[in-house]
Amino acid sequence: MHPADLCYLNNASVGLQSPAVAARLRDWLEAEMAAYPRQRLESALWDGQATRTRLGQWIGAPETQLAFGASTSQLMAQVIGNLKLAGRRLLVAPGEWASNIVMLRRLGGEPPRAIELLATDAEGRLDMAAIARQIDDDVAAILTPLVTSTEGRRYAVEALGALPRPSHCPLIVDAAQGLGQTEIDVRRLGCDVLVATTRKWLRGPRGMALLYVSQPAMAMMHLNPTPELAGLRLDPATQRFVDLPQARRFDASDLSIMNQVGLTAALNELQQIALQPLRDHLAALAGRVYDIAREQGFRPLLPHPETGIATIHLPDVEPLQLVQRLDAAGIVAKACNTAAEPLNVRLPATGTLLRISPHWHNTSADIDRAMAALR
Ligand SMILES: Cc1ncc(COP(=O)(O)O)c(C=O)c1O
Repeated sequence: MHPADLCYLNNASVGLQSPAVAARLRDWLEAEMAAYPRQRLESALWDGQATRTRLGQWIGAPETQLAFGASTSQLMAQVIGNLKLAGRRLLVAPGEWASNIVMLRRLGGEPPRAIELLATDAEGRLDMAAIARQIDDDVAAILTPLVTSTEGRRYAVEALGALPRPSHCPLIVDAAQGLGQTEIDVRRLGCDVLVATTRKWLRGPRGMALLYVSQPAMAMMHLNPTPELAGLRLDPATQRFVDLPQARRFDASDLSIMNQVGLTAALNELQQIALQPLRDHLAALAGRVYDIAREQGFRPLLPHPETGIATIHLPDVEPLQLVQRLDAAGIVAKACNTAAEPLNVRLPATGTLLRISPHWHNTSADIDRAMAALR
């Protein structure tokens, strides 16, 4: 099958980079080759500074409170590894990503803490009245995704962030599935920490992620003795490593220049599209998946899609069978592994979950083609 015949519907795993971004990267490489050997750059920051400023504006955060790292999980490890979580309860949303839970267990210090689910209602939404009763002085941290990976649920994080919580208890938001497809303002979310990758809904580079830490959350941190976890800044003037009391301390010591160039180009493109038209487009395509699935007798996971993630349950199909069927039809979509959300008891234990995650480049014909492959 010719690559042009492929229908890419897996942007929740990795956003499909647009041709304009690829062209920008090609131009950059050509310019670099033409400038050889003078192009060798001393600093790891190229577009990084301007991009940090822009991303800061997008999410309502001062740029000093932002750091760039390699992945959502790596930055989450740094946050968890520097917070004092020992011996207290952790409140975690059912849709939390698996590796965050593993890290809470392994990096949070001894003795192991109790991981407790944030209360939800019959539909799986956060139940704020019940959660208010769960939060007390013994709670060390609250963790939630903004958008869940499998169901595509948009949790009401603003309401969670508005609940009173102890001053030692940060609200930690995993926005890996949110950044780029939903509006994010850390002040409106009322969160202390936010992590997200650039490779999914921003359709930016792989191997790059963003961390926001509020000043109060920095003050809650007890820096991990392991430098890789604690983060250290090299002061160019003195050539000494300094304990910068800001999120910038978690910046990776080296950043791929290509990633910075690619991220700037991807942000430019997304800004031209604008968030609301993108959201409308995604809502229409996800709604189409839900409608056709119901006509075909399959169950979508939510009453209505809440984001660009539309996941349906195929009770009588094995994952391998599904992958082979999609492959034969040239469809790239995800057969979800429920282990990615180990605390989410709402996910069916048998059959297969098919996640369809379109982006700006997709059309309703793509959805029809993917759904026809299921017949
Ligand atoms: C909600 C959520 N958190 C974290 C991750 C992991 O991101 P990374 O590969 O950048 O560590 C994913 C990946 O799919 C995700 O969906």
